Amino acid sequence: MLKQILISLVAGAAVSAAAAVTPAYLDPSRDIEERVEDALSRMTTAEKVAILHAQSKFSSPGVARLGIRGLWTTDGPHGIRPEVLWDEWDQAGWTNDSCVAFPALTCLAATWNPEMSALYGRSIGEEALYRGKDVLLGPGVNIYRTPLNGRNFEYMGEDPFLASEMVVPYVKGVQEQGVAACVKHYALNNQEVNRHTTNVIVDDRTLYEIYLPAFKAAVQQGGAWSIMGAYNYYQDQHLCHNRRMLNDILKGEWGFDGAVISDWGGTHDTAEAVANGLDLEFGSWTNGLSNGASNAYDNYYLANPYKEMLAKGEADTKTLDDKARRVLRLIFRTSMNTSKPYGSLCSEAHYAAARRIGGEGIVLLKNDKGLLPLPLSSEKPVRLLVVGENALKMMTVGGGSSSLKVQREVSPLDGLRAAAPAGMTVDFARGYVGDVTGEYNGVTSGQDLSESRSPSELIAEAVEKARAADYVVFVGGLNKSAGQDCEDSDRESLSLPYGQDEVITSLAKANPNLIVVNVSGNAVAMPWVKQVPAILQAWFLGSEAGNSIADVVFGKVNPSGKLPMTFPVKLEDVAAHAMGEYPGVKRQGEDVWDEKYNEGVLVGYRWHDTKKIKPLFPFGHGLSYTTFSYGKPVADRREMAVGETMTITVPVTNTGDREGQEIVQLYVTDVKAPLQRPAKELKGFRKVALAPGETKEVTFTITADDLAYFDADAHSWATHPGKYQAHVASSSADIASTVPFTLR
Ligand code: BGC
Repeated sequence: MLKQILISLVAGAAVSAAAAVTPAYLDPSRDIEERVEDALSRMTTAEKVAILHAQSKFSSPGVARLGIRGLWTTDGPHGIRPEVLWDEWDQAGWTNDSCVAFPALTCLAATWNPEMSALYGRSIGEEALYRGKDVLLGPGVNIYRTPLNGRNFEYMGEDPFLASEMVVPYVKGVQEQGVAACVKHYALNNQEVNRHTTNVIVDDRTLYEIYLPAFKAAVQQGGAWSIMGAYNYYQDQHLCHNRRMLNDILKGEWGFDGAVISDWGGTHDTAEAVANGLDLEFGSWTNGLSNGASNAYDNYYLANPYKEMLAKGEADTKTLDDKARRVLRLIFRTSMNTSKPYGSLCSEAHYAAARRIGGEGIVLLKNDKGLLPLPLSSEKPVRLLVVGENALKMMTVGGGSSSLKVQREVSPLDGLRAAAPAGMTVDFARGYVGDVTGEYNGVTSGQDLSESRSPSELIAEAVEKARAADYVVFVGGLNKSAGQDCEDSDRESLSLPYGQDEVITSLAKANPNLIVVNVSGNAVAMPWVKQVPAILQAWFLGSEAGNSIADVVFGKVNPSGKLPMTFPVKLEDVAAHAMGEYPGVKRQGEDVWDEKYNEGVLVGYRWHDTKKIKPLFPFGHGLSYTTFSYGKPVADRREMAVGETMTITVPVTNTGDREGQEIVQLYVTDVKAPLQRPAKELKGFRKVALAPGETKEVTFTITADDLAYFDADAHSWATHPGKYQAHVASSSADIASTVPFTLR
C-alpha cells in the first residue's frame, strides 16, 4: 500500500515537472526577445504570414495552435471608439462600449504642459485597457501646415518642438498600461483633400526639421511600440510601404523595433509592402469584404499573395521573420503582457482629467477691460445670454474615425447654466443654424436641433435678447461635420461657416459685453476681432466641454493655454497657400496630385516672422486673468562650443491678484546663417504656476543641438560658428528679452 502511494507520488511529481516546463514564449519572466525568438521558431510560414494582416475590421489574429493571442486595435486618439461589426464599419450595437471623450489633441497641445499629456495618455490607456484593446490608434502628430486641413484637430499644432515635447508623455502614459500607442499618420499627411492620391514633394531639410521630429521623438524618447503609415504618397510611393520613410529612416536611422501598421486601406501592393517595411496590414478595400471570394482577409496584400511570393521564392524568409518578430513583439508587449494593470472606464478620475485638460487648453485670445471672468456675485440680478448652435451641439459624435459614443457630454450651455452664480439668469438664443444632424457611423447624438426660423429671424431674436442682457456669450465655430474639421475633407475657407460672422457683428452692436467662444480645431478668420472685447479659443473639448468652458468663463480656472498654431488674418498669409501648391497639381492622365512644399521650413510662425506678416493671433499667444512680468535674464556664459551647454535663467513674477500659470518660451535666432533660416524657432518652454506676487526663476539650457539645421547634402545635422540670439518670450510675437551669444 505504502509502496503504491509512493509510486503514484513519484509519478505525480513527474507529471507536474513536465507541466512545469513552460515554453519560453509563454513565460512572462523571460526577456521579451527570447519569447519572440522562441515563438518564431515554432511557427510555420503560414502562421507567420497570418499574423501580418487583419482578420476583422479592427483585429488581427494570433496563433491559435500555440496559444498566442491576436491584437485588438481601436481609434484613437481622443477616446475609445465604439465597437463595430466584425467585418463592417457599422455599429455592433453593444451597450457597454461608451467611453470618456477627452479633449482633442490640439487642446492638449495648447496646454503646453507635458504633465497634462502624461495624464491624458494614462487615462485613455486605462480606458483602452478596460475595453480590451491592445493598440490605440493615436496620437497624431502631423504638422499643422494649413488651417484648412480637416484633421488638424487630431494633431498637436505647427511646431515640431512643441509636438515632440507633448507626444512623448502621451505615448509613455498609454504604454504604461500595456497598451501600444500607434503614432499616426507617418508622415507628410497634412491635408485630407486627395488624401489617397497626393504625392508630397518636399526637400530633405524641411522633412527632417519640420515634419519628422515629433515622430522621431515618439519613437526614440516615447518608445512607441507601433506607428501607422499615412495614406498619401511621398517620392511616388505610398507611405504605408515607402522604402525611404519606413526602411531607411524609421527602422534604419531611428532604430524603431516596433510594428508598422498600415492605415485602413492604405496598402496597395504586395511586393512593395513586403520589401518596404509594412508589418501589419489593416482595412484593405476598407469595407473589408468586396475583394474576397470566401474570406476577404486571405486576399490581403500581406496574406495569400505574400504566401505565393514566398512559395515561388520571390520573397525571402529573412524579411518575413523580421515582420513576424515585430508583430510578436507587439503581442508580447500588449495582449500577452501578464503584468499589465486592469484599466478603468468612465471613471470620475477620467472625467476630472478631461475637464482639467480642457480647462488648461482653452486659450484666452483677447480680454479687453478684463471683461472675463464673469462676476460670481453681484448686488443686482445679472442676465447672461448664450447664443449659438455650438452651445448645444454634441461634438463627440462626428469628425471621422475619432468619433465617439459617450455616456456623458456636458454642452457649453449646460455647463454655463450649472456654473452660473445665484442671482444670474441664463437665457439662450440659437443665432444660426449649422448642421442639425448628429450621426456618425450609426452613433447618434440623439439631439433634436431642428429649427424652422430663417437666418434673419434667428439674428433678430438674438439681437433683441442681447440688448436686454448684461453679458452675451456666443458659442460658435466649426462642428466636425464634413468640411468643418472632419476626416476625409478639408475646409473650403478660413471663414466661419453658417453666417456666423454676421451674427457676431450684430451681437457686438447690440451689447458691448460680448464674449466669443470659438469651438474648432483650426484657426478661423475673425473679421470682427476689433468689435468683440473677449475671445476664447475652446477647441473640441469632449465629455466635459461645457464644464471646462464654464470653469474659464467664471474664473474657477485661470486660463493658461497658448496657441499651438498661428491664427492668420487671411488664408493668403499662410505659407502653404502663398508659396505652396495646396491642394496639389493633378498629373496628366493619372490620379495623382503632386504637391510641392515650396515654403520649405517656413511653416506657421516661421513664415509669419520671417516674412514679417502680422498674424491675427501669434503662435504661443494666450492671456491670463492675472499678469506676469519677466525680469532680466541671466546667462551663465555668452560663448559656447559644441559639446558645451549654456543656461539662461529668467525670473517671472505674477504681478496680478490671482494665481495663474505662465508658459515661458525660448526661441533661438541664427543671426548670420549660411542658408535661409526662420527668423526664430522654439527651443524650450516651461509652464510655471505662480501665486499673486510670487516670483520663480525659469532656467533653460541651450546646447549646440538647439542651433542645428539639417544639412541635406551631408545628410546630418550641422551647426556653424557665429552669432546667435536667445529670446525669452511669452509668445512668438511678444519677446521679453534677448540674449546674444556666440557659438565658437
Ligand atoms: C484613419 C485612421 C484610423 C483608421 C481606423 C482611417 O481612415 O485615417 O486614422 O485610425 O481609419 O479607423
